[in-house]
Amino acid sequence: MSKKVLVTGGTGYIGSHTLVDLIENGYDVISVDNNSRSTIGMLEGVEKITGKKIKNYKVDLCNIDETRAIFEENSSIIGVIHFAAYKAVGESVEKPLLYFHNNMQSLINVMQCIQDFNIPNFVFSSSCTVYGNPDKIPVTEETPRKQAESPYGLTKQMGEQMIESFAASNNKTNSILLRYFNPAGAHASALIGELPIDRPQNLTPVITQTAIGKISQLTVFGNDYATRDGSCIRDMIHVCDLAHAHTLALNYLIEGKNKSNCEVFNIGSGDGITVLESIKAFEETTGEKLNYVIGPRRPGDVIAIYANNDKAKKELGWIPKYDIKDIMHSAWKWEQYIEKLPTHLDLPNKRLN
Ligand code: WQD
Repeated sequence: MSKKVLVTGGTGYIGSHTLVDLIENGYDVISVDNNSRSTIGMLEGVEKITGKKIKNYKVDLCNIDETRAIFEENSSIIGVIHFAAYKAVGESVEKPLLYFHNNMQSLINVMQCIQDFNIPNFVFSSSCTVYGNPDKIPVTEETPRKQAESPYGLTKQMGEQMIESFAASNNKTNSILLRYFNPAGAHASALIGELPIDRPQNLTPVITQTAIGKISQLTVFGNDYATRDGSCIRDMIHVCDLAHAHTLALNYLIEGKNKSNCEVFNIGSGDGITVLESIKAFEETTGEKLNYVIGPRRPGDVIAIYANNDKAKKELGWIPKYDIKDIMHSAWKWEQYIEKLPTHLDLPNKRLN
């Protein structure tokens, strides 16, 4: 049986870590990534870790002819994992049409090819953002989707609903929607990790870039929320745990264990941690003192969310291995590694301010 998996967004943060996990679990992988928000240099790290050369198609998935050509060239694809999308919440508020076009057209083209080439398994990168500001936490997969907080979140909600409709009309493909919480950290080798193209928005890279001096001071966006220390609560999930969830989701479908042809799983640690606790975990783990200040709330921030991950544990056999200290330790090692990197890796501008 073929073990060939097509991974869109394979040179990105979660995509590259998933390539490693898939290879280590016996899959053959091909990547499709136009590198508009990532660097092909990340595949060097994947190759160093796995010893495997990775083929990447530098194709814009919004172009149906170029996308279709990949499927024509690669027969017997057993599954598609679709990461490729823009994901900066703030940018999506400023440029909603860019997000609607890029994230939705690429998904439609991928689904069209999945249908036309009878690809049996499909895993979609979704997000806890589909829950909006939940009334009750932790959230389960039955927690209703609420008004998205941003156009980015809306593209994830629309993506989920499109796949649900696709599944209802097409029983030849089995789909899984993985709702990520807050991906963070890096592979233990420090050869791959998160590489924000411009100034990072997400907390963990802001922490490590502040610690290494690329960012002069971190602002905590609000400490007057109704939480135990006033700062927001999040569910930080190690990127390697998240990557492994994709391999297990594919195994689950290939082994025919799915109960329907469209299932949803929360992929979060199940632990809610505040922003201030995350900063403290970084300082305790690395011994680095962080220069931060309390500032105003960030519009659109969800006050508190974390996962009930029982379903993924029970059905997929997925058990998160890493905790917040592993996240901060690995993120810091990665930050120190890219600081020393030669520029030939075509890494985006590392000096941010
Ligand atoms: C986390 C907390 C900030 C930066 C987003 C997407 C989600 C997923 C992960 C893709 C918040 C606070 C942050 C800073 C801060 N994306 N913060 N100072 O917004 O929870 O989730 O990224 O899969 O879909 O919505 O992540 O890391 O931006 O923020 O205080 O400089 O850290 O206010 O409370 P978020 P984040």
